[in-house]
Amino acid sequence: MATRDKHLFLTGASGLLGRAIYKKFITEGWVIYGTAYTRVAEGLHKLDLTDENEVKKAVIQFKPSFLIHCAAQRFPEKVDLDPEGAENININASRYLAQVVDCIQVPMLYISTDYVFDGKSPPYAVDAVPNPLNLYGKTKLNGEEVTLAFGKGNIVLRVPVLYGPVEYVAESAVTVLLNSLLQTDKPCKISNYELRRPSHVDDIADICLQMAMKRLEDENICGIFHWCGKEVFTKYGMLVQIARVFHLPYSHVTPDSNLPSATTPTPRPYDTTLDTSRLEQLGIGYHTPFNVGIKSALQSWIR
Ligand SMILES: NC(=O)c1ccc[n+]([C@@H]2O[C@H](COP(=O)([O-])OP(=O)(O)OC[C@H]3O[C@@H](n4cnc5c(N)ncnc54)[C@H](OP(=O)(O)O)[C@@H]3O)[C@@H](O)[C@H]2O)c1
Repeated sequence: MATRDKHLFLTGASGLLGRAIYKKFITEGWVIYGTAYTRVAEGLHKLDLTDENEVKKAVIQFKPSFLIHCAAQRFPEKVDLDPEGAENININASRYLAQVVDCIQVPMLYISTDYVFDGKSPPYAVDAVPNPLNLYGKTKLNGEEVTLAFGKGNIVLRVPVLYGPVEYVAESAVTVLLNSLLQTDKPCKISNYELRRPSHVDDIADICLQMAMKRLEDENICGIFHWCGKEVFTKYGMLVQIARVFHLPYSHVTPDSNLPSATTPTPRPYDTTLDTSRLEQLGIGYHTPFNVGIKSALQSWIR
């Protein structure tokens, strides 16, 4: 079946990262079939990715030249609450997509996570052995495995904690920190333990575009790639940066250097710094400085 030039099938187009990818590819002249599930904004198509027949039918009818699979259940606590639902979207839906792109000979880029690693021995090279600590990380790793099991030219892109323009402040684990800052009458503790390298969604969207263009020219652009931000913070460190950018007081917030197991039973890796050299050798990858990215992301939420 002939596919069409610059036609992108994008799952999770209503999500935090999917919205940025949609915008980036549209700007570059791509035609997009963007799927959503509960947040079907104008221009998007409702598709339950756990429905094998509907998924395969939609992809075959659209005839994309490239597919990016962003949709997932990515909140670790929600995965623990509904393991079966999470396996359906994070693993089974990935399998349906990988099977159908294999049939029509179209490359697929699967967005994965630094949570496939245990965080004990960073930086992680693309061939480092994963060892996820929580079920979310395990389901995403299984999603990677099914992606790479079909076809020969699929791509897995592992990314760290993301932030960018949000529909609600708690949509990102970074922007949610603004809530603690604004509630000056509520003293609170914020973790000063685990290390994170946040990335702006626009940086990841640009990487996806560069990779799509390179992959369509060169079949050797396949397998696993890593990206993460260049600055390292604890959650408390990010909160202090946000406070400084917006000149907000933060003396009501105490850094908490204890293991976070007291606040959540879902374990998280300590330091998942990813080795980004494979992408950088291709000339791909830009890091938006955190203070610049967070200012644009949160500006409209500051009264
Ligand atoms: N956000 C992060 O910090 C982060 C960090 C590392 C990796 N990642 C990975 O990056 C990717 C994108 O994450 P994100 O932050 O953009 O996630 P998100 O904001 O939670 O968006 C998830 C997307 O998946 C869709 N979806 C969920 N269940 C579905 C179903 N049954 N059928 C069809 N669509 C369904 C949602 O659609 P509706 O909203 O319309 O229901 C939404 O578009 C994920 O693969 C995630 O694992 C994210």
